[in-house]
Amino acid sequence: SAARLTIDPHFVSGRIHRRLFGGFVEHLGRHVYDGIYEPGHETADAEGFRQDVIELVRELGVSTIRYPGGNFVSGFRWEDSVGPREQRPRRLDLAWHSTETNEVGLHEFSSWLEKVGSDLMLAVNLGTRGTAEALDLLEYTNVPGGTELSERRRANGREEPFGVQMWCLGNEMDGPWQLGHRSADDYGKLASRTAKGMRQIDPDITLVACGSSSAAMPTFGEWERVVLGHTYDDVDYISCHAYYQEKDGDIDSFLASGVDMDRFIETVVATADHVGAVRGSSKRIDISFDEWNVWYIDRYEGVDKITGIDNWPVAPRILEDSYSVLDAVVFGSLMISLLKHADRVTSASLAQLVNVIAPIMTEPGGPAWRQTTFFPFSITSRLAQGESLELKLDSPTYETARFGEVALVDAVATHDADAGRSSVFLVNRSTTEAIEVSVDVSGLGDVAVLETHTLSDSDIYAKNTLEDRERVAPRENDSVSLADGMLTITLPPVSWSAIALG
Ligand code: AHR
Repeated sequence: SAARLTIDPHFVSGRIHRRLFGGFVEHLGRHVYDGIYEPGHETADAEGFRQDVIELVRELGVSTIRYPGGNFVSGFRWEDSVGPREQRPRRLDLAWHSTETNEVGLHEFSSWLEKVGSDLMLAVNLGTRGTAEALDLLEYTNVPGGTELSERRRANGREEPFGVQMWCLGNEMDGPWQLGHRSADDYGKLASRTAKGMRQIDPDITLVACGSSSAAMPTFGEWERVVLGHTYDDVDYISCHAYYQEKDGDIDSFLASGVDMDRFIETVVATADHVGAVRGSSKRIDISFDEWNVWYIDRYEGVDKITGIDNWPVAPRILEDSYSVLDAVVFGSLMISLLKHADRVTSASLAQLVNVIAPIMTEPGGPAWRQTTFFPFSITSRLAQGESLELKLDSPTYETARFGEVALVDAVATHDADAGRSSVFLVNRSTTEAIEVSVDVSGLGDVAVLETHTLSDSDIYAKNTLEDRERVAPRENDSVSLADGMLTITLPPVSWSAIALG
């Protein structure tokens, strides 16, 4: 089989925002406790943060990190997480049926972010709480001083404001599992009121309204329309969340998950633009794809779920998916989907970062390691710079049970005119055939191949585990050749690849 594509730096689809390579840290399972924070660990710094994890997060290349939830935030009282540690309460976390010790809170997490070089994106609780508490938190984080809450922050050791730029107005409020779940109409009104109040404190913040928890939600589409009907003038973003998993052995459909993500994005853009059109507004609402990943959610529902009135563990081992090569190829294709829509998806958060459906795993008292999904993220984050390009792509197709006829090859290219660098990211969804791809790069001028990376394996279920931490890694693709403006590369079955040119 063969596929062809043409790269032309004039066919710009959008400037790539660094926020596209964001992450997400939720107080959930062993993410914070026994994940990023383990005071007894041999690599722990003076604040108790594991430095081996810090190094891996830096290598991953994450920009903005969403915090502290997720479902957790809908029952969270932010005041619990600041002030003297010994006075912080232990609380029930109803989202994950756990105990939250509040040992790590806003100040500690912000200090960790400085160490990993990422920005804070905060979510407010619009589940069990409302506008007043959101305003209190914003006063605490962003007002320089001279008021009750800004002075409390200073007394708690943080002289300068945190200056939090990005704010999520609640989390997945369309989901019946969400504490304080409400209708689109109720949520839209609450989000609008809260957003207006928050802007009265700080007009420069960026606000994200909750969109749908997935494109499969029964309210999908209508939820966005109604919520944006209330909030269009008040917010900058509507969120999308999507998780994918292999179901019933249907690898073909799983490999086509990016098609679902493409449609999801395009439908939400159309809905947002419809609301704008009806209002006669020239304002454009962008998408914050602030939860995306492969997640074996059925395993959580079936095996991990904690219950019992006397059973509220601290940092339980839940949502600790171990990712295969197949998962990483799908993951890489999701990054291709995000990049293809860089004109409207200007913020995204990989859910999540450490131990919990994560590219980085740790063992208490033991090592930290890279899961298979680490590689497509770190390589894409490093190489996808400048602008995303529209491609002319001609690929053989295959039939899938869930998405019909789907291209076997998906790809996106990026171009950084200032640095004179371009990159191409490709996925081969065939489970049986290698595909040779011819890429017309003549429009890029005189370029050479700087790097190639291909992730594939004869065992598509190969993983990196505690016992075998470096079993899977991308390798150089030595099939690549470039002559007379035509690049060719062979993509093995079930593979993800990246090529850097310059
Ligand atoms: O990332 C895990 C959970 O998935 C988040 O808490 C929630 O927002 C989503 O349902």
